[in-house]
Parts: sequence; structure tokens; C-alpha cells
Amino acid sequence: MKDAAPQTIYLSDYTPPAFLVDSVHLTFRLDPEKTRVISKVDFRPNPQAKSRAFSLHGEGPALQWARIDGRDVTPEITETGLTCEVPDAPFTWEAEVEINPAANTALEGLYTSNGMYCTQCEAEGFRRITYYPDRPDVMAPFTVRIEGSDPVLLSNGNPLNSGPGWAEWHDPWPKPAYLFALVAGDLRAHEGSFTTRSGHEVALNVWVRPDDIGKCAFAMESLKKSMQWDEDKYGREYDLDVFNIVAVDDFNMGAMENKGLNIFNSSVVLASPETSTDATFERIEAIIAHEYFHNWTGNRITCRDWFQLCLKEGLTVFRDAQFTADMRSAPVKRIGDVIDLRARQFREDSGPLAHPVRPDSFVEINNFYTATVYEKGAEVIGMLKTLVGDEAYFRALDLYFDRHDGQACTIEDWLKVFEDATGRDLSQFKRWYSQAGTPRLSVEEEFADGTYTLTFEQHTPPTPGQPDKAPQVIPIAVGLLGPNGDEVQPTTVLEMTQARQSFTFDGLGARPVPSILRGFSAPVTVTRDSSTNERAFLLAHDTDPFNRWEAGRDLARETLMRMAQHGGAPDRGYLDALAAVLRDDTLDPAFRALALRQPGQDDIARALHEAGHTPDPEAIFHAADRFGAALAEHLKDTLHALYTAMDVPGPYRPDADDAGRRDLQNAALALKTRLDGGAAARTQFAAAGNMTQQLGALSSLMAQGLGDAENTAFAEQWHDDRLVMDRWFALQVAHARLEEAPKTAAQMTARSDFNLKNPNRFRAVFGALAGNAGGFHAASGAGYELLADWLIRLDPINPQTTARMCAAFQTWPRYDADRQARIKAALHRIQNAPSLSRDTAEMVARILGD
Ligand code: BES
Ligand code: ZN
Repeated sequence: MKDAAPQTIYLSDYTPPAFLVDSVHLTFRLDPEKTRVISKVDFRPNPQAKSRAFSLHGEGPALQWARIDGRDVTPEITETGLTCEVPDAPFTWEAEVEINPAANTALEGLYTSNGMYCTQCEAEGFRRITYYPDRPDVMAPFTVRIEGSDPVLLSNGNPLNSGPGWAEWHDPWPKPAYLFALVAGDLRAHEGSFTTRSGHEVALNVWVRPDDIGKCAFAMESLKKSMQWDEDKYGREYDLDVFNIVAVDDFNMGAMENKGLNIFNSSVVLASPETSTDATFERIEAIIAHEYFHNWTGNRITCRDWFQLCLKEGLTVFRDAQFTADMRSAPVKRIGDVIDLRARQFREDSGPLAHPVRPDSFVEINNFYTATVYEKGAEVIGMLKTLVGDEAYFRALDLYFDRHDGQACTIEDWLKVFEDATGRDLSQFKRWYSQAGTPRLSVEEEFADGTYTLTFEQHTPPTPGQPDKAPQVIPIAVGLLGPNGDEVQPTTVLEMTQARQSFTFDGLGARPVPSILRGFSAPVTVTRDSSTNERAFLLAHDTDPFNRWEAGRDLARETLMRMAQHGGAPDRGYLDALAAVLRDDTLDPAFRALALRQPGQDDIARALHEAGHTPDPEAIFHAADRFGAALAEHLKDTLHALYTAMDVPGPYRPDADDAGRRDLQNAALALKTRLDGGAAARTQFAAAGNMTQQLGALSSLMAQGLGDAENTAFAEQWHDDRLVMDRWFALQVAHARLEEAPKTAAQMTARSDFNLKNPNRFRAVFGALAGNAGGFHAASGAGYELLADWLIRLDPINPQTTARMCAAFQTWPRYDADRQARIKAALHRIQNAPSLSRDTAEMVARILGD
């Protein structure tokens, strides 16, 4: 199928569909190996179209017969679909195909997972189910009949009718095929209900395998909170009689927003205190919200084409971040998101995979569900909101929903509602969607006669295909602190539009200390020479919690960079300032835990590279280790008190307060374990009544090469729990040191419970290897070789997951000649694998810069 030369698709080539669809009827006769799909589709010529040529997408379905207006036709079948002569007027297309769900290991289209039928159609999976115009700008109401022996038969929309062995569903809301879903299996429902503010009662269900029925309550509560929040904050109500969520074990992604029938990776639905960490609870709440919020931002208003992906994903990530900020702590959420943005998006933006938030070409769209489209896409919306203000933001959103409900839209439509709602010209702002790369902002300051001047210069390094960049609109939130720590200028947003621009503040009694880019008001890198003292001062006094954390982060990053290059130890000024933050009981424990967390080793490598050095992953690893040791030593009198003070009384609750205390307690434990030989961690492990404490104790031990007995006991206790065992697999590889990491990963693949076909298990091992910077980049090259071996094995089974995991190699240009050669050799080996998928071929070529 995929042997044809892969085609590049360009945004500039967009043409409207030749035919529109008025309605779709689908009948599924389920059988694991021979499922029949009968489709009846009412087409009508599109008055906007330039051509009358009729074609349908299709990849793999075996066509049994086709009819137009009741008469047999013989379409011409190609590798990617079919073409057929059709009337120049409305007509009805009918066809029957056969597909094999049991053989579908790619997990796109209709497949089976543990005996259950399940679909994944975004982005282009529907074409593996039947022949259809599988593009998001073709929207239609669907009626679906499912015939099968499973007790539960689900599809989108509202239930119409059912009987033994069959069920019918009708979704009145026109939707693109990528939002189609079908599920069939022996499932149980955790039930709930929600009454919308206009009084409509909605039946809610979380469907899971019978054994998992006790782990659904948290997902259900999260769903209700999401529904309430979208009404309260955005005025958006749910629009069907039922909302179903299904958990499935084999899933390429986290979750999918199919209309009325969201499908989730079971790892982000199932939760219990004994088996799930606090972080997992928070993630479940956020993903349930994210997929639910797509009902308006994605489903009711969808994308015209896949280049507009950020229209739904960037906006929905932004909305789920607002939700989490409201449900939990806003500063803690923001800091966590920025850590993630830097680790994943800045990395992407500074290497061979850099692309604009709205890409202008792709070969395989699955490769563009990236940190740039999602996370930078959400940052761009945050900047827009900062620039226009809250009130105008919500006015623009109301206009967006009013004007575009039921449509398939573009970024132009999106920006136009903001222009119309505010009278602003957003043409320069639009560069955030078209220019790749992370802008670098340098800062100069001057103080004379009570006037303080900040001069900024912006520069965006070249990215593939974009050598030169024009200046972007950068909202820079700034505050000024006086010498005694008082705020002399509260947060104000400077709007930078030029390459170099100055801003002045008058009437100051003394030279202030600036707090720049408060709340991380733009996704840029700030470079500014400032002393350890000044940063320690901000760490102690900044009124903006984000920048307070940032000051400590800057110090930690600079310290680690210095230690990786020249050895030495952390600066005393930094250690004292950090200790003061940790001892400050007025600060949220979750915030203190974040202040204690070291920058990742990969972030240090990127920072060194950007500063013109060649990072040495081993040196960074040792620097991080010595940094931790110095921290533990310096804090030794604080740690025990901190550890006991963070005890959480009462029954386990996964809320932000309790989770923050456990997080700080675990962070203290990790340092304590460097001093006490593991005594406290062993005690915590033995007493732990929840996974957060059990895993926290185990990883503290393993990080110091301790805890063999606990590690074995953990695997024995949880060998039957697939999701907990995913954590265990990941932990083994994450804590293996340097050259040990590829060896440990190889041992994991040799276990009988390693399963190449389950993306969660594959990612547990190889995601952990790629995330273990010292181990992956071990000098022998064994990390690269092992990952390449397994990606070559996975590609014929699951191209989408293979392609995504190739991104582990994207940082090759940073490293020394020897590592570069080894990474490129691994990539060439993948490239030369027989019948490589289009997905993986595109990724490898882009990483190599071919
Ligand atoms: N629409 C996506 C799921 C998806 C991604 C389908 C890629 C097909 C290809 C869904 O809304 C999504 O974004 N899921 C995220 C989680 C979310 C919280 C960012 C995911 O699956 O990781
Ligand atoms: Zn999404």
C-alpha cells in the first residue's frame, strides 16, 4: 500500500471538495477478521468547487460492490482511494467493503484490543474503514448500525434503537469522518449524569473492562467538573443526550475527542490511590477536560484542513490549562507547563524538526501532532489574550462560536474574530503562526535621573527552510522591585513590535531590579547578564510567583552549565536562597517542590549548545549528581523537618494541596536518601498506602543505586497490573546510569511481559531510554543502536508510534563528531529498513535534513 512515492501536501494547494455530503448511513457487521462495512452516502456537487471529479479516500478496505443511485458501478481503485464517473447532480453512493480489525496493529481505523473493537480515525484513519471523502471540511450527520455479538455496541451521538446483537446510533451534528467512532465489547459502565444550565439531562458513562470498574470514579468527577467549567467560563453547553468515555489498552495517543464517544488510553482514565500517582490523577483530570472541551473547539467548529490543526489543538490545550489553573494552583500549573514547553517545544524549535505552529507542508500528518502545534499553539493564544485583555478575549471567543458554529475553519477566521472584536490589526501577530524558531530576547538597562530604560532586542535563529525572520509582536510583562524588595512598578505589559525597542519608567528613587517576562508572557528565551546576587534577590522577593521560580531556575541552570564544563560546586548564595524558600512555610509546598527540582539534563545540553559549546552528556550527568549531593549536604539540617512537616493526615485525596505536600515530601526524601543510606525511603516504602509514596520511595532508592529488595517486591506485588507495570519498566531504565541504561532497556525487552504491540509498554521502555540523557547518549553509542533496532522492528507493526519515537534522535546536531556519526548511522540504518513506512521515512529524512 505504502510503496508509492510519498507525496508532499502543501497548504497553498488547498482546494474545496468537489462534492459535499448531506448524510451518511453506515452498517457494521462485526467479525474479528472479516468485518463488513456497508455505507450509504448522499453526495451533492459543491457550488464552491473548481472541479467535478469524484474521488474517495480508501486505504486497505476490500471493495465488494458499489452502486450509484441503485445502479452497479465499477470504480477505478488506486493505492490511496478510488475514482468513479458520477452524475453532475446530487446522488446516492452505496458500497460494501471488508476489513480485518484483528490484523490491524497500526491502531488506526478499526482494530481490536484485548478482544474489544475500537476505532481511531484522526487524522486519516477513516479511510482504512471504508471509502469516503476523509477530509475535515466534509461534514455530515451520521447514522450507524452495529451488528455484533458483544453486549455493548457504541457509536457517536444519541442511541436510536437496539436489540439483541444490534444497536443503532444517530449523531445529528454534522461532523468530519475523523470524529467517527465505534466501540464494541464486554464492557461495564460507571454511570453518572449532568444537567446543563438550560435543563437538559445528559447521561454520562465511563466504559471499561469489568475488572476496572472500581477505577472510574475520578474520571467521572473530572468530566462533570469540565462540563460545569465550560458553561461557567465560556458559556458552552453540551449538546447530546449522552456522553460516553471508553478506556482501551492499546492506543497510540492519550485520548481522542470523537463526538459523544471519547476514547481514552486506559492509562489516562483508570485511577485508584493504590495504583496511580498524584501526577496521574492530575493528568487524568486535564485530559478528560481537554477532550471534553474539543466538543466546541474542534467538533462544533472544526479545521478546514490539517494545516489548521493548531486551531483546535492549541486552543483546546489553552482551555485545559485554564481549567487546571482554576481547579488547582495557577502558578504551579504555569511553572509546570513552562518546564514542559522548554523540554519539548524549545528542543523541537532549535533543531532539524523545527516548523511553524501552522506548518506549510507535510508528508504524513500524524507527524505534526507536535509540541509546536500543541504547546506553542497554546502559548500564541495566551499572548493574544494578554495583548487584548480578558474582556476582549471572551468577546472574541463568543463571536468565534456565533460566527463559525458548524463550520470548518482556518487561522485566518480565528484571527479575524479578534480583529473584529477589538479593532486591532493582527497582521504582524500572525507571524507567530508562520515563523518557526524560538525568539531570543536580549535585554540592556540604563538608569539615570530617576528614569529607568529597558532596551530589548529580538532575534530568531534560522530554522529549516526559514533563514531570515521578521520581528514578531512580543508581549513582555515587566515589574520593577526597589532595593528593599518592595514592588515599585506593578506588572505592566510592554508590547514589543520592532527588532530593537526601548521602554522607560520615570520617577524612580533608586535603580530598580527588573522582573522580566512575568508569568512567562511569551515563548521566548531571555538572555540577560545578571549577578547571582540579583537572582537570589528575585528568588527571595519577586511578587510574581513564576519569576520567583524562574530566578532559582536560572541560577540552577547556570550552575549546572558551569559544573558540567569546569567542575566545581554550586554557589553558596544560591544554596542559601534555595534553603530560605524551602523553609518558608507561607509558600505553597507544590511551589517549593518545583523550586527544588533540577533542570533536566537535556535542557542543560540545549543551553550549552545555544551558548556555543558542545555538551558532554556524561559530564552533565556527573554535574547533576554532584549538584544533588551538594544540595543534600547543604540542606541536611532542613530535610528531616521538612520531610515530617509534609506528612498528610487523613485519608488519601488527590487534590492540589495534598498532592503538593506529598511532592515536596518526596523531593526531600530523594535528597535525604543521599545522606541516610536509604533508611527513610525504606520506611516510607514499607508503610506506603498509596502509589505516590510507594513510587516516590522506590525511585529515591533506585536513583542512589539502592533498593534492590524493594524493586523486586514492587514487581511481585503489581505483576498483574499492566499500568503499574508500565511505571516499573520505565523506572528500571530511567534510573540506570550511563552505559547501564541501554543494557537495562535490552533486558526489559527480553522479559515475557514486554509487548511490542502495546504502545504503552513500548514507550515505557524506550521513552525512558530516550529520556535518560546520560544513558541514551552513552559514549559507546549502545543507546542509539538499541533504539534503532527496536524502531526497525516496530515500524511494520505500528508506524505512528515508531515515527514519533524517532524524535529522540532530533538533537544530534548539538553533539561531538563521534556521537553525531553514531546517531546518523542509526538513522541511516532505519532509513534503509525494508518497506519503511511513510511516517517513519518522513521523520528520519527531516531529522537528517535530507
Ligand atoms: N485529537 C487528539 C488526539 C489525536 C492525536 C488523534 C494525534 C490523532 C492523532 C486529542 O485531542 C489530543 O490532543 N490528545 C492528547 C492529550 C491532550 C491532553 C493534549 C494526546 O493524546 O496526547
Ligand atoms: Zn486535542
